[in-house]
Amino acid sequence: IEETATNEVKEAADLEELEELRIKYLGKNGEVTEILQNIGDLPPEQRPVVGKLGNKLKSKLENVIAERKEELKQAAKKERLKKERIDVTLTGRKDNLGSKHPLTQVIDEISEIFLGLGFGIVEGPEVEKDYYNFEALNIPKTHPARDMQDSFYISEDILLRTHTSPVQVRTMEETEVPIRIIAPGRVYRVDEVDANHSPVFHQVEGLMIDQNISFSDLKGILIKVVKELFGEDRKVRFRPSYFPFTEPSAEVDVSCALCGGEGCSTCSDTGWLEILGSGMVHPRVLEMSGLDPNEVSGFAFGMGVERIAILKYGITDIRRFYENDIRFLKQF
Ligand code: PHE
Repeated sequence: IEETATNEVKEAADLEELEELRIKYLGKNGEVTEILQNIGDLPPEQRPVVGKLGNKLKSKLENVIAERKEELKQAAKKERLKKERIDVTLTGRKDNLGSKHPLTQVIDEISEIFLGLGFGIVEGPEVEKDYYNFEALNIPKTHPARDMQDSFYISEDILLRTHTSPVQVRTMEETEVPIRIIAPGRVYRVDEVDANHSPVFHQVEGLMIDQNISFSDLKGILIKVVKELFGEDRKVRFRPSYFPFTEPSAEVDVSCALCGGEGCSTCSDTGWLEILGSGMVHPRVLEMSGLDPNEVSGFAFGMGVERIAILKYGITDIRRFYENDIRFLKQF
C-alpha cells in the first residue's frame, strides 16, 4: 500500500484528485483506516505490530499528501500569477469619450456670460402650479396658453411649466432685492413634433430687479449678451412687442451673419433673426410677489436654447437635438 499510495499521491494532477486519494486511503472507509479498525480481529501477538506499522503508514501518507497539497497549491498560484500578469509595455486602448451635448454647451455658454455680469443661476420645478406658471405672471384665465389643449396639465391647477418664468416669480417671493438671476431649464408645450417644434425644449430666462432699473439697463445688458453669444460684428435691434407680464415689452433680433455668397441660407429675408423676448416687469407682477412697484423696478427676458443653437450652428431640424445620433453630437 505504501508504495502505490505514495506514487499515486505524487502524481495527483490537482487538488481534487488529491482529495479523492486521501479519502481512498485515509477516509472513513479508507484502506488504511480499515486496517487499523480491524486490528481487534487479529491474533493478540500480531496486534501491536500491525498497529505500529498501520499508524506509521497513516502518518507517512498524511505527510505525503500534505506535501503534495502544498506543491499543487504553489503551482496553481504560479499559474494564476502568470495568467494575471499585466504587460505594462502594451499600448493602452483609447477610451471612446462622449462630448457635451450642443444644448448643454449653449446653456453653459449663456450661463458663463451672465455669471460674468454678476447674475446667479436658479432652478425650479418642471411640474409647476398654475399660479406660478400663469396667475402670478398676470396671464389671464382666457389666455390661449392656459387652454388644456396647449399645456400639459397634471391636474386642474398643476401642469408642466410652459416657460421658466415661474422660477422668477419664486425668486421674487423668496429673495431680497437686488435680484440678478437667470433660470435655465426644460419647458413643455403641446406641439406636434416637426423640424421646428418639439413638445419639450429648453429656455434660459432672466430677471434683474433693483431700485431705478430702467429700459436702458435692459438694452445694455441684452446687447452685451447677444454680442458675446453671436459675435461683436452682429447688430442688435429691439422691436415693440407684448407679453402679459412685462410693460413695455420688446422682442430682440440679431442681424444675419455677414457671409456673402452661397451657403448663407440659414438667415431670413429681412436680414434679422428673432432671438429673445424681454420687457420691464409689469407692476402687477411685482405686487403679486410682494414687491412695491414704487420702490423697485426691473426687467425680464427669455430665450429658447434650441433656437439659439440652431442659429449659431446652422442646424436645420430641431429633432437632431433629441435623437442622440453620435455622428451629429460628435460635431460639437
Ligand atoms: N416667458 C416668455 C416665453 O416663454 C419669454 C419672456 C420672458 C418674455 C420674460 C419677456 C420677458 O416665451
